[in-house]
Amino acid sequence: MCGIVGYIGFKDALSIILGGLEKLEYRGYDSAGVALMENGKVNVTRAVGKLSELKKLFVARPDSIKANIGIGHTRWATHGKPSEDNAHPHSAGRVSLIHNGIVENYVELRAKLIKEGSKFSSQTDTEIIAHLLNKYLEECKDSISALRKTVSDLKGSYAFVAFDARNPSELLIAKNASPIIIGQSEGEVFVASDIPAILSHTRQIVILHDGDLARVSLDGIYIEQDGKEIKRTSQIVTWDPITAQKGGYKHFMLKEIHDQPQSIADTIRARINRESGKIDLAEFDFSAEEVAKFNRIILIACGTSWHACLVGKFYFEKIARIPCEVDYASEFRYREPVLDKNTLVLAVSQSGETADTLSAIDSSAKFARTAAICNVLGSSITRKVEKVLFTHAGPEISVASTKAFTTQLSALYLLALDFGAKKGSLNNDDLLRHSKTLLRLPLLLEEALACEESARKIAKDFSSARDFLYLARGECYPVALEGALKLKEISYIHAEGYPAGEMKHGPIALIDENMPVVVVLQKSDVLFDKTISNLREVESRDGKIIAVTDTKGHEELHRITSNVIEVPHISELLSPILLTIPLQFLAYYIAIFNGTDVDQPRNLAKSVTVE
Ligand code: BG6
Repeated sequence: MCGIVGYIGFKDALSIILGGLEKLEYRGYDSAGVALMENGKVNVTRAVGKLSELKKLFVARPDSIKANIGIGHTRWATHGKPSEDNAHPHSAGRVSLIHNGIVENYVELRAKLIKEGSKFSSQTDTEIIAHLLNKYLEECKDSISALRKTVSDLKGSYAFVAFDARNPSELLIAKNASPIIIGQSEGEVFVASDIPAILSHTRQIVILHDGDLARVSLDGIYIEQDGKEIKRTSQIVTWDPITAQKGGYKHFMLKEIHDQPQSIADTIRARINRESGKIDLAEFDFSAEEVAKFNRIILIACGTSWHACLVGKFYFEKIARIPCEVDYASEFRYREPVLDKNTLVLAVSQSGETADTLSAIDSSAKFARTAAICNVLGSSITRKVEKVLFTHAGPEISVASTKAFTTQLSALYLLALDFGAKKGSLNNDDLLRHSKTLLRLPLLLEEALACEESARKIAKDFSSARDFLYLARGECYPVALEGALKLKEISYIHAEGYPAGEMKHGPIALIDENMPVVVVLQKSDVLFDKTISNLREVESRDGKIIAVTDTKGHEELHRITSNVIEVPHISELLSPILLTIPLQFLAYYIAIFNGTDVDQPRNLAKSVTVE
């Protein structure tokens, strides 16, 4: 999730672009760059690290001419680690280009362009677009035709802005799945990936839609869809700058809960062949021979990532038929586990900087094969393991993890499919069935988000409770743990997650009319009815029940409690992802009603880099 800013006008483009990127740095911050048209020449300046590193380069160049047109970018790496070569803007011939998104078919496009003589200087998918546009600008009669041809070659999500050194008065824009807006003001035009970047200059914006191509200049804005010119009405933004950074949501946590359909789509995108269901994990390429040797997988992590590992165990054992253990990294690092080269130690970490997880890898790398699932390119863990599978959740700002968790689950599912296919424990039909199911997830997640209002109402009724019990079975037991953790993290209310079948061996003693019991019931031939009987045990002790399920309109359930939150059903194995959503909302709204600092809760850090 990168930040994009473009400007044409009469003011100093550099300060407007740097000012805009500053407001977008929450979107990505591992490198940055700008391209300015100065004196008929395009000047590209890029730097690794925070925006401040880029600014330093301009402070050192007080003589730079005041440019009135330019583009700028802050990067959140997805392809190619943070480096100056991989920073945007990327140039090819007459084109300078910035991009936010993931080009799915970049490997084959790159090979084709190299055959045609293109020279690449980065590992990014973005540089391909610059070469394509340059090629077509040379071939086509006008810039829009060149843009049309460029996007017709691309598959994936993209929002890019380019300028052509031979047409220095216009910017070219294309949008598909990633956000991009145009801002209008007297004698100026702004382009940005998000409202905060331009809010201090204008509140009049045009939001581009998927498939829109645009050419903006001081003479006007031309937009087309499928080759036909269209008009997009401009809107007036009323948000204050802080709310704008949160996409109009009150907190980053709520924004990140709503980001999940996109972050899952970006995480599975380009990794599933829609025809065959075959999984292609490019950078995470253990061979079939290596996978066949794995007789044990040990998943290690901390916090929410540890809960993801508990679900991952079901995926590796049920799909890939590989025995799987899960351990807290802080315990594993001192446990001196029995390891050998047929064991894969797989670390899961959103930040890639959690000290316990890093040390757990250090303590096993000499004895076992190692790998990681991580959300941050260039983070420490990526330099400690043999292979890394990146989730593409984008930056997660709120301390309580939400979208990183669900993207970790989808990455673990992908990996189990890959290993299952390589080991032969999954035949082609099953692989295609599983892959097709996973591809339905982003849309069903969108539907599941509709439970927000019912979760808010129930949260209101229960926000004064001081203890909660979360119960579930099977692959949803870790979801109960995650729901309890979310509530603890942001509302400071005591909560425990427990396997529902284990309740009668202890926690049932806690149940009375003051103890809310949140029960997760996934559609399942066996476990649903078992969990219903646990519900009856709670009901008979006057426990107050909140039920979260993917079984619509279940009569007995609605008889037992009126506090039922329903989400769509996908499959038993993937139900943890959809059933987590109501628990995220429940925790969020209970915290809101208790007035705690949701994004920066007390005593917690986004990543604990000390032991
Ligand atoms: C904690 C965070 O510090 O670390 C949690 O508050 C997170 O949200 C945990 O789950 C593990 O972090 P990571 O980055 O290793 O997944």
